Amino acid sequence: MAKSKLIVHNLHKVFQVDEGFGRFSSITAIDNVDLEVSEGELVTIIGPSGCGKSTLLMILAGLYEKSSGDVLLDGTPINGPGLDRGVVFQEFALFPWLSVRNNICFGLKMKGTPVSEHDRIVRHFLKMVKLEEFEKIFPHRLSGGMKQRVGIARAMAYSPELLLMDEPFGALDAQTRTSLQQMLVDIWAETKKTILFVTHSVREAVFLSDRIVVLSRRPSKVRKVIEVRLPRPRQRLSEAFLRHEEELEELIAAELSAESETQEAYPA
Ligand SMILES: Nc1ncnc2c1ncn2[C@@H]1O[C@H](COP(=O)(O)OP(=O)(O)OP(=O)(O)O)[C@@H](O)[C@H]1O
Ligand SMILES: [Mg+2]
Repeated sequence: MAKSKLIVHNLHKVFQVDEGFGRFSSITAIDNVDLEVSEGELVTIIGPSGCGKSTLLMILAGLYEKSSGDVLLDGTPINGPGLDRGVVFQEFALFPWLSVRNNICFGLKMKGTPVSEHDRIVRHFLKMVKLEEFEKIFPHRLSGGMKQRVGIARAMAYSPELLLMDEPFGALDAQTRTSLQQMLVDIWAETKKTILFVTHSVREAVFLSDRIVVLSRRPSKVRKVIEVRLPRPRQRLSEAFLRHEEELEELIAAELSAESETQEAYPA
């Protein structure tokens, strides 16, 4: 088995919420989550809305503090943002004041990559996301799908150890989404990067993943880990693909119905 890239052990996250008038309440978002991702693996996380998926990714990105537990990347604790991680979030916009090229160069400059290398790297990653012609364009002239492609190029260009993606294709139309899923799989196959990808879409999870981690409703625990052993390129209409989809739908439906029972037991 490949070596563990990312280890999440007993992760717990409680938000303290200021209710005003000196009152505070707490929300437990993550409850003892354990997760291991191997080098070069593509793992997706799926679970009911509000269960803590983005919170988990924000902790891994170093943008939220954990309450307790261990989070290790290559054996080193994650204690803040760093260039060993690349981030592509749905709402994580490009820098609007920078051209496509300079958006991609941003991480390279932060990392201290020699300027003489920038041209080659920018071209290489723009080619990967099929946007070679758009180097000088500013983000406001790009479509949603193009922005996310630049986002992927930007996150990949400085060669992070782990790519964190939080519903990066969630706001796109079905056709663009499907083509970006294929593009991501191609980029992953070429770069052999480790990817942790959050999605709401069962179909997206089955198409992309080596393994799918199903989280429970909040506070999230790992409900089940499903290995997807389907050969690539994956056929979305094959019987085995549809069987995986069905299994996931059932697991998530069970979590959602458990949620509504809880809500009924504690009416507002
Ligand atoms: N900064 C914050 N302060 C307080 N509570 C928060 C904060 N961020 C998230 N939460 C709460 O933590 C819980 C988990 O939120 P999170 O955004 O991680 O869910 P999610 O699984 O990503 O949901 P979705 O699928 O809808 O994106 C929710 O109850 C949310 O209200
Ligand atoms: Mg979210």
